[in-house]
Amino acid sequence: MRIQVDLSKELQDYVTASSLREPQILAELREYTSALPLHLLQISPEQGQFLRVLVSALRVRKAVEIGVFTGYSLLCTALALPPTGTVVACEISEEWAAIAIDHCKRAGVADRVDVRVGDARVTLDALLAEPGARGSFDFVFIDADKENYEAYYEAGLELLRPGGLVLVDNVLWKGAVIDDEAQDDETRALRAFNAKVRDDDRVDLSMLPFADGLTFALKR
Ligand SMILES: C[S@@+](CC[C@H](N)C(=O)[O-])C[C@H]1O[C@@H](n2cnc3c(N)ncnc32)[C@H](O)[C@@H]1O
Repeated sequence: MRIQVDLSKELQDYVTASSLREPQILAELREYTSALPLHLLQISPEQGQFLRVLVSALRVRKAVEIGVFTGYSLLCTALALPPTGTVVACEISEEWAAIAIDHCKRAGVADRVDVRVGDARVTLDALLAEPGARGSFDFVFIDADKENYEAYYEAGLELLRPGGLVLVDNVLWKGAVIDDEAQDDETRALRAFNAKVRDDDRVDLSMLPFADGLTFALKR
């Protein structure tokens, strides 16, 4: 028999009360973002803390983030990097990138952050063409437009060193991946992406049913 806790709202509140430690600057960014109409794009503070622990535990020095929004996950990564660490962050919206940069400055970690505004596929191609970039990154976080996850994953694998990790958000898409009625482009792309990674022998794999589903793909 499998032990699987049914996560009620009360139990989720208990998890938060028992574990969440959110630095003031992240709380301020979350507060700022909560007033925006698209605030639900932001990862949760619990996910952010998970990201900080992960980046720290893996001793990441060079990271890539695809999908910045107002910068919550970016700031989590930047705070967990060592002082000489860097994160290349891809975001298509100049307005959101500016908010993210502003908060990284206020947190004193702007020198770890290299925000590149534009379509992430173009940004990643340019990054791959930079001398020494290929195979040099430790960590890639994918959290942008779902239709391009496959392209981001492929670019991420090329940028990573062997043993580097791709972390992919929203792979369960609030359960839509198992709903036959859900045939929109994003859901179909995520189904195809999940099937591709499942069969990809270039990586070791784990899909975690945490938040909206997180896939870990460790480059062999
Ligand atoms: C889910 S949000 C990211 C949330 C962010 N990780 C956080 O913690 O707040 C997705 C972001 O991807 C950006 N995006 C969408 N399509 C993109 C593209 N083709 N290239 C770069 N960024 C893109 C959106 O503008 C949006 O800010």
